[in-house]
Amino acid sequence: MKDTFYVTTPIYYVNGVPHIGHAYTTVACDVIARYHRLRGEAVFFLTGTDEHSQNVARIAEENGVSPEEWTDRMIPEWKRVWERLQISYDDFIRTSEERHTRAAQEFVKALYERGDVYLGTYEGPYCVSCEEFKVEAELVDGQCPIHRRPVEHLSEENYFFRLSKYQDALLRHYEDNPDFVVPEERRNEMLSFIRGGLRDLSVSRKSVTWGIPLPWDPGHVIYVWVDALLNYVTAAGFGLEEGRFRSVWPADVHVMANDIVRFHSVIWPAMLMAAGVPIPRQICVHGYMLVGGEKMSKTRLTGIHPFELVDFFGVDAYRYYFLREITFGRDGSFSWESMLARYNADLANGWGNLASRVLAMVDSYFDGVVPEPGGDGTGVLSNLGGELVERFDAHMTTLRLTDAVASLDEFVREANRYLVEVAPWALAKDASRRRELEAVLYEALEGLRLIALLAFPIMPEAAGRLWEQLGIDDRLEDERLPEAGRWGRLQPGTKVRRGDSLFPRLES
Ligand code: MSP
Repeated sequence: MKDTFYVTTPIYYVNGVPHIGHAYTTVACDVIARYHRLRGEAVFFLTGTDEHSQNVARIAEENGVSPEEWTDRMIPEWKRVWERLQISYDDFIRTSEERHTRAAQEFVKALYERGDVYLGTYEGPYCVSCEEFKVEAELVDGQCPIHRRPVEHLSEENYFFRLSKYQDALLRHYEDNPDFVVPEERRNEMLSFIRGGLRDLSVSRKSVTWGIPLPWDPGHVIYVWVDALLNYVTAAGFGLEEGRFRSVWPADVHVMANDIVRFHSVIWPAMLMAAGVPIPRQICVHGYMLVGGEKMSKTRLTGIHPFELVDFFGVDAYRYYFLREITFGRDGSFSWESMLARYNADLANGWGNLASRVLAMVDSYFDGVVPEPGGDGTGVLSNLGGELVERFDAHMTTLRLTDAVASLDEFVREANRYLVEVAPWALAKDASRRRELEAVLYEALEGLRLIALLAFPIMPEAAGRLWEQLGIDDRLEDERLPEAGRWGRLQPGTKVRRGDSLFPRLES
């Protein structure tokens, strides 16, 4: 029985090292995975690498090594970045691994045996950078419209998948599952693409040798996109570990940018239908990250390595910035200036300042001991806190990640505003108002506890440091919603530990 929340990143081409575009998707998936763990769910978070691409073979050749050697050399580069960005993946699949190649062969063989794969000839353009069969009408001056590079003209024997046969079934699936592709604009694009008519798809290449051989005709290799899509089932145990497969499949959400949504929301579900395997629940499409108004890309050499930013801003601010600044689902721009401005405005002045002033007051007015809450339970922050937990959950579970992060940031602002309004520093001067002062600081501390709890999926290190400063004995990673989200769990008498500022101000 399915009992695990399953989220995936695309598997990335390893012709180069990761840039902040790849990291954007991966961080978003990590936040989703961590949030579901916080809710007490079993989670399977998968990422990995797509190795059988001609671009990989080409760059290996240019470097005078075999594709295997090249990919072996690249994998540590990718893993190093994910580790530094605190990506909590449960599995990392490489399409060159046996567990993948064997199961992928099983899968295509099943399609062949069911009569949905047949031998034919492909004639037409092919863009190697996209690894995609194109139609003449799409080309601009004979070039791929995305990569602005000449296409190849292929004429070769290929095996074809009867994609056209699944047109009606796909349309029905879209109708019955209105949230299959989000956001809605993307769903509509895919619907009109399907309604426009589907052509059968080449699923093998004869002139290519770097790939997985077709089991019944080893002179062909599996088309790299079919090979790649299959990672989502092979990593889940398809064909090899049936019990595990049943507990994680279907995937809850495949996350990606717009460039590869057709593969995921048309070809992939049709392949699964043909094999009699359930279809993933959701395809979630985010926007492109633009640099200087253009899509950042390896081919155009505009890729920025994540470490260039992490070295300066730290990993938490890095994760926060992209989710907060670029509305999840829409295109957005990155610039150093906006990152610095947001860091100082939101994190240094907002989050960091809230934590340090509250902890400093608890230190000086109460010897660092959490005071008693007010009796009436009608505090401003307790009300806002309750709302926040609910709103945050609604946003997160519907993948409105920017709204989730923004709601937390808004709570931080409210908390800072509240402190200015009630001015505990003034209350502290009046001994007759000691009870009020206690109640206010308890509210503020409990607000900080909620902030640390909900920020944990987004900024795991900073949240952990804040949690420690609050002096709570239980480990943050063991906390579970909804219980942990109830107002008033912070125990009076707890000794807080003032520490270093969470987000020191940065100068350019
Ligand atoms: N190997 C295929 C995916 C196979 S999945 C079964 C591939 N790889 S890729 O390395 O080109 O990665 C594309 C994905 O990287 C995008 O869909 C997106 O998730 C991420 N991004 C790459 N550049 C990006 C931006 N500039 N902006 C946002 N996301 C970016 O396609």
